[in-house]
Order: sequence, then C-alpha cells, then structure tokens
Amino acid sequence: MDSSDFFGFLESRSSVREYDDEPPGTDDVDYILRCASTAPSAGNLEAWDVVVVTEEETRAALAEAAFSQKHVEQAPVIFVVCANYVRSMSRYGERGILYGLEDATIACTYMMLAAHARQLHSCWTGAFDEEEVRKILGLPQHVRPVALLAVGRGQAPVALTERLPVAEHIHRDAW
Ligand SMILES: Cc1cc2nc3c(=O)[nH]c(=O)nc-3n(C[C@H](O)[C@H](O)[C@H](O)COP(=O)(O)O)c2cc1C
Repeated sequence: MDSSDFFGFLESRSSVREYDDEPPGTDDVDYILRCASTAPSAGNLEAWDVVVVTEEETRAALAEAAFSQKHVEQAPVIFVVCANYVRSMSRYGERGILYGLEDATIACTYMMLAAHARQLHSCWTGAFDEEEVRKILGLPQHVRPVALLAVGRGQAPVALTERLPVAEHIHRDAW
C-alpha cells in the first residue's frame, strides 16, 4: 500500500448507523482484536481491555444505556473498549489515568480501521451512561468504559462527512 492508497483507505471510512442482520464472522472479530493488540501504548503496558458483546439482550441494554441509540442494538457486534487503570497506574500513578484513556482510544481506533479493512462498517459511540454500562457488563471499578464500537454490515452514506480545512488545526512552532 502506498501513501495515496493509505489516504484513500482513511478517507473512504465513515460512520454507519444502520446495519443488516448478517454478523461479521469469528475470523473478522479475531482480526479486529489482533489489529488492536498491535497498537502502541504508554510504556507498552496495553492499559486497555475490550468486552465483545454479541448477545441480543445485552446489545439492547447497551443501546438503552447509550440514550436509545438504535445502531447499538442493531449492530451485530459491539466492542466495549475500556481503559484498565490497574495496568497504567501501577507504573505511572495519576498520569496513568490519562495513559489508560489514550491506550484505550488508540486500540479503539485500530479496531475501527481494522473493521474498515475487512469491508465492515462501524460507528464509534461515546455517548452513554457509564454507570449503566458498568452494571450491564459487570465491569470492575478499575476499568472505565471509553467507547462502544458498533460493527457490522450496513449501507455506507453516499456523501462522506465533511472535515474542517486541515489548516484550522495547525499551529506551527507555537500556538
Ligand atoms: C469520541 C467519539 C464519540 C462519538 N460518539 C458518537 C455517538 O455517541 N453516536 C454516534 O452516532 N456517533 C458518534 N461518534 C461518531 C461521530 O459522530 C463521527 O465520527 C463524526 O461525525 C465524523 O463522521 P465519520 O465517522 O462518518 O467520518 C463519535 C465519534 C467519536 C470519535
């Protein structure tokens, strides 16, 4: 893949919020998880974990916790990506809170792109009631759910989402 293929790959992904019933295969799920495990992490501590949810009832409960976002129930797989503070804080103390969130976010980004590489669709979902998600999945206290990544097969939107001109983000040498 050259740099222009890479850019095309990134640019052609967009969030999908309607899915059909055909679930990704176990090989797709394994591929996505293997890709996540190649992600960089602070001190190589890999302070992230993921709960792979396929049960219909659990997806419905997660959708409720995500303020009734239908795609969370409809997508056949939800990767609940979590920061694992025990891993990051055991070495980095308070700073480990930030590192745990960063590690989880990078892992989730890799999963989202891995899904795209398998011609699957996804929607990163950050709006949810954390306490509800904790209860539904039985998460321990040292683990914080960061994102619900919905994955399945759907219809990509006709027009890609627009972005700010890149220059809007950029400050050179100082702010
Ligand atoms: C941190 C984060 C939180 C998000 N939360 C939600 C969400 O709760 N519901 C949703 O439908 N999309 C959510 N999205 C998806 C964004 O709306 C989407 O990425 C953005 O509009 C750009 O569109 P694109 O992904 O199609 O390029 C979230 C994305 C990120 C990165």
